[in-house]
Parts: sequence; structure tokens; C-alpha cells
Amino acid sequence: GDLERLADDVRRADTVVAFTGAGISAPSGVPTFRGDDGVWERFDERQFAYGRFQRDPEGFWEDRVELQRTMFDGDFEPNAAHEVLAAMERDGDLEAILTQNTDGLHGEAAAAVGDETTDPNTARDAEPTVLELHGNSQRVRCTDCGNSRDGDPIFERAADGDLPPTCDCGGVFKPDVVLFGEQLPGAVIQRARSLARESDVFLAIGSSLVVEPAASLPRLAASTGATVGILNLESTPVDGIADVVSREDVTDSLPRLRDLVLE
Ligand code: OAD
Repeated sequence: GDLERLADDVRRADTVVAFTGAGISAPSGVPTFRGDDGVWERFDERQFAYGRFQRDPEGFWEDRVELQRTMFDGDFEPNAAHEVLAAMERDGDLEAILTQNTDGLHGEAAAAVGDETTDPNTARDAEPTVLELHGNSQRVRCTDCGNSRDGDPIFERAADGDLPPTCDCGGVFKPDVVLFGEQLPGAVIQRARSLARESDVFLAIGSSLVVEPAASLPRLAASTGATVGILNLESTPVDGIADVVSREDVTDSLPRLRDLVLE
């Protein structure tokens, strides 16, 4: 089948890059953005635009507390798909994990699978390579001094009416994420693009692939000869350039892909 073919290419490849979106965290209970139960059905994207933050930080934070509750309520943990990618990265079978998600679950999965590799010959020797293209929702950053810190106490302060929450230096805190209308950090986007270009296999996992740079990274990879695999429940505008498309739940397809690679 198609996954067998993808597994063959992954096994042969020097450089495999994974690119993930909200669909990989959906089985962990984090809602996706698009679709019937999507976050953007319940909220208006414009509430969270950078321009709004600058114009009306108080209103922005009030809404952001609600968004945070909706997205990250209760306990959520990495699932089998996060763990497969973390294990592949640990074992040197995956160059990097690029993610649009801000939930921090790839980092948690890396910690959960540990450093004990199944293949000491290929294992990476450095820290896990997880690139959070849209930042991290569990952290906040001061817009004046740049100080970054754990977001929980700041979200609590905002929920208690301390709007907008400010840093000791007097600057306004901003969730440490990329907002609509805000540029992705140049260095991060450069790194993502060069990884896509270097890749022999590029896996797009659980993303609708409609927002930049998601829409263009698979094309960039394909243009430099990579095998492109798209693992997503629904079709995407990029399916036409993919070598392999799997419309399954990623907690099924990724563990199976990993098993096929190791066979
Ligand atoms: P989307 O919500 O646009 O797409 C998630 C995709 O995951 C959908 O196409 C679903 O079909 C698919 N999906 C859901 N559950 C799945 C499962 N168990 N297995 C496989 N696929 C599944 O999320 P993203 O593409 O990540 O940006 O959205 C990209 C960006 O748009 C987000 O990072 C966010 C949003 O606006 C910012 O906040 C800046």
C-alpha cells in the first residue's frame, strides 16, 4: 500500500522532516482550528490579531483568556503520533519536527520517550529538534524587555481582571505566539525553508495546509525532489503534489509507518 511506499522512502532517506498541525493534537483533546468543532467556529480570528493586541491589549487579553480555556482546558498529554515522531527524532531517523502547534506537546513527547535510543549508530547527540513556528501558548513574553516566562500565573492574573497583565518592568505581556498579522521570526522561517529544501522525505501531518508557511513548505520540498507524504483526515489544497496521501487518524497511520520503517 501507500504507507509501505512511504516507509521505503523514509528508510532510504538521509533527511526526513516532519511538519505538523492541529490534527496531530486533536486525539489528545486539543481542538483544531478549522472544521465543525474548530476554534474559528467559536471565535473570530480578528479578536486575536496583532493589530488588536496593539490597539486594545485589555480586550485582547480578556478574549485570549477565553481562547486559552477553550483550547487547553484540563489535562492533555502527547499521544501515540507525537511519541512516534519523538522516537524517530531521538533515533536519528528524523532530522527535525516543525510544528504550527503552540501546545508544547512535541517537547513533552521528547521528554516522555527519553534519550535511550534503539540505534546508537544513528542517534542524534544534541537536544531534540522541535521548531515551534507559531510559538508556545504556555509562555508569555514582555513586549518591552523581552523577558519570557511561564504563562499560567499570568493567565490567572488576567482571568482575575488584571488587564492587560504587565511585567515587573511595566511592559505589557503578550502570549508567546505568533498572532495574525504578525511576521513569523525570520530566522525560524529560514530554518524551516532550508529543512524543507534539504529533505528527502517531507511529511505533512495533521494540517489543513491552507495558512502560510504550511501551504508552501510541501511545495518547496517537492520542488527540490523530496518525496512528499500528506497524513491528514481531510483533503488539502496540496494533495495534488503529494507522492503519498493517507486519510487516516494519525494515531493509526504514524505508528504503522514507524513499524513498516523498522521492519
Ligand atoms: P487546521 O484546524 O486548519 O487543520 C487541522 C487538520 O487536521 C484538518 O484538516 C483535519 O482534517 C485534520 N485532523 C483532525 N484530526 C485528525 C486526526 N486525528 N488525524 C489526522 N488528521 C486530523 O489546523 P492547522 O493546519 O494546524 O495559526 O492550522 C494552521 C494554523 O491556522 C494554526 O497554527 C493557527 C490557525 O489559525 C495561528 O494561530 C497563527
